Formats: sequence, structure tokens, C-alpha cells
Amino acid sequence: MNHLTDKNILLGVTGGIAAYKSAELIRALTKLGANVQVITTPAAESFITPLTLQALSGNPVRNSLLDPSAEAGMGHIELARWADLIVVAPASADFLARLAHGFASDLLSTVCLAAACPIAVAPAMNQAMWHNHVTQSNMAKIAAFPHIIVCGPAAGEQACGDVGYGRMEEPSTITEFITKHFTSQPSSSSPQQLAGLHVVISAGPTREAIDPVRYLSNESSGKMGYALAQAALDAGARVTLISGPSALTPPAACTTAHVLSAQQMHSACLTAAATADIFIGAAAVADFRPAHQQEQKIKKGSSDTMHIELIKNPDIIADVAQLTPKPWVIGFAAETQDVEQYALGKLQAKNLDAIIANDVSDKSIGFNSDHNAVSIITHQGTHRIAQNHKHAIATSIIHHISQLTVSH
Ligand code: C5P
Repeated sequence: MNHLTDKNILLGVTGGIAAYKSAELIRALTKLGANVQVITTPAAESFITPLTLQALSGNPVRNSLLDPSAEAGMGHIELARWADLIVVAPASADFLARLAHGFASDLLSTVCLAAACPIAVAPAMNQAMWHNHVTQSNMAKIAAFPHIIVCGPAAGEQACGDVGYGRMEEPSTITEFITKHFTSQPSSSSPQQLAGLHVVISAGPTREAIDPVRYLSNESSGKMGYALAQAALDAGARVTLISGPSALTPPAACTTAHVLSAQQMHSACLTAAATADIFIGAAAVADFRPAHQQEQKIKKGSSDTMHIELIKNPDIIADVAQLTPKPWVIGFAAETQDVEQYALGKLQAKNLDAIIANDVSDKSIGFNSDHNAVSIITHQGTHRIAQNHKHAIATSIIHHISQLTVSH
């Protein structure tokens, strides 16, 4: 039996150059046994003809909300009920904005709003549009909806000549994503995997004061930790976020403690971890701090050099892992070489239950980026999660952790 036998997939095609790839996607889905119906937005039909989509899917293409003859057949609410999964590929910036805000201004957005099934979106747009703050804020909203899953976008050369994130994932990758969705359904579709559990997450950088106006810090944005907080909330957990200075707004539903230094983070984490079931150390804690914080602003003086003595900060996660009772402790290892090997060393040295390794030598992922690609290493083995938006990575991490802690 094919993985998608008898699955009803409603494919939404929106206006973008990648719409030509929808034809290939329909072929791949029908080959795997899926029943495919297609809805286009008006802009999509400037890029691909309804006739092509109809020929490949074997079903008439729908494009209008107010079409009496189409509604007399399968009405838009019946179409929403028919679908086991809605896939929007390509999903344009405009469509994603409408999806984020619950618009019902055309057939596709209306069906998305009426559907009870999951919705998978494959964003496709110019890289500047993708990185635009407004699109990113719409994506953060979308990623927080438990019924919407995001596939991509990929990075690379774009039709307009730009290079960067915004390319629609290849039809083969989207097909694999959809197949995985159906094969891992029982647990991934359960939004309450961490119900009743207290999850404590450290996030962001720390700031180590040199004098009243200067400090040592690092490039961490807090994006990964904040995304994990949202994913843990979505999974039903009670979440405490201990955050170093970050420009992000914490999810409203979690309890947040804002701290500056590693020592403040240490004290807040140990207090919260005392009642935690799971502790995730996503913060980039400064390893050292100035031995003496000057009370007055340091003067330049006449010397060409300055020496600041540094002393080691406490290792927060290692101390959490010494607590009794001990929560399930997950660390992060940002490395630039031999990533998984170094991460394994830290897993053992800090007595962790799992460590999430990521390669920060690749500038397109890790620190400050919206994307990441990670390996989850436990004492039992390694689970790799391919490059994706940090919100999607966070959902996968929380899903994997929930499986590990349940079997623990
Ligand atoms: O040793 P390294 O900094 O690479 O370890 C990374 C992991 O340890 C991360 O989970 C980080 O949050 C945590 N850590 C910590 N306290 C420190 C240093 C790192 O909790 N002082």
C-alpha cells in the first residue's frame, strides 16, 4: 500500500513563479495514492493554467468562492470537510499574511478557515520579502497555530536573480514532508504531548558588566529559545522562560523572568528548575565575567592596552543536572567543527539527558538567523532535523523530546 492511499489532499496554489512546480507535486501525490483536488487563487492562474492542474489531478480546478455551478457540486464547506490535509504550495507572502490573520477573502483562505484538518504551507517568495519583518511576524503567528505546519522555504538562487531564503521547497521534499505527516500522525497530531508538565527554558545571551556602561556579551538573539517556549506551550506544557536581553516579545502564555548576567540567570534557572519536569538550556551563557565590576565608568587613560581579568561563570545547566529530583535536562551545543563529537562530550561531561548540536560556522543557520538545522543527541543515539525555520525546528524538537521523556 502507498503511504498516501485514499488520503484526500486539497492543494492550494497561489500566485508565484514556483506555481509551475505544483504540477510535479500533483503527479507525485497521485502516484502515492492520494486523491488531489486543486484550488487556485486568481494570481496563480497567471503562472499555471487550470487545464494543466485539472489534467494532472483528474478533478476540476476551483478558483471562485461565489461560483454557483461549482457550489452546486461540492460546496466550499464540503471541500473543507473532504480534505485530510490542505497543502498550500507555493504559499505567497500575501496568502500567508491572510492565513495569519484569518481572512476569508477568496476560496482558498475561506476553505483554510473552515477546515478542521491540518494545513501545510510551503512559502515561496523573493528573499527580501521573506526576511521582511512583517512576513517574519506573520510566520511566527502561523507557526504558533497547532494545526498549521510549515515546509521550508529553501535557500538558493531565485527567479529574480537574488540569492537567499524564499525558494519553494522542491516537490520531492514537500511530498516527503506530507508522507511523514501521515505516517507520524498519532503523536504529531496530538497537540497536548506535554500536558501537565512544567518546562523551563533559558534563552538569549547574558551580559557581563565591565563598568556601569560597558559589558561583554554575544550574538545570541533568543530566537531558538523563544520558539521552543511557544512550541512547548502548544504541546500543552506550563512554561517558564528565563531570558537574557533579547529584542523579542515572549509568548504571552509563559511566565518570563528577564535577567542580564549569568549569575542572575543561574539563580533564576535553579529556582524554576526545582519544580521542572524538563529543563532546556538554549541560552548562550557567557563563560567568563569580569572579576571586578568597576563602579565608575573606566577612563581611557594614557596606556595603549587594557587588561580585564575574567573569572569563570557558573555552569547553569550542569548545576541543574545535579538537582534532586532532577528534571530531564537538554542542552545546546553551538560548534564550528566536529559538531556532533563535541556535543557528545558535553552531554557526558554535564550529565545531560540530551544535547542539541548545531553548526554555527554556517552563517545561514544558528546565531541570529531565522533558520537552524540540528541533531538531537542522547545516550541512545542521534536524531537529525533538516534545515528549517526555527519555529518548525522547535516544534520538531519538542515533539522528539516528548517522545523521549514519555518513554523515559
Ligand atoms: O559549554 P557550552 O557553553 O558549549 O555548553 C552549552 C550548553 O550549556 C547550553 O545548553 C548552555 O545553555 C549551557 N550553559 C550553561 N551555563 C554556562 C555555559 C553554558 O547553562 N555557564
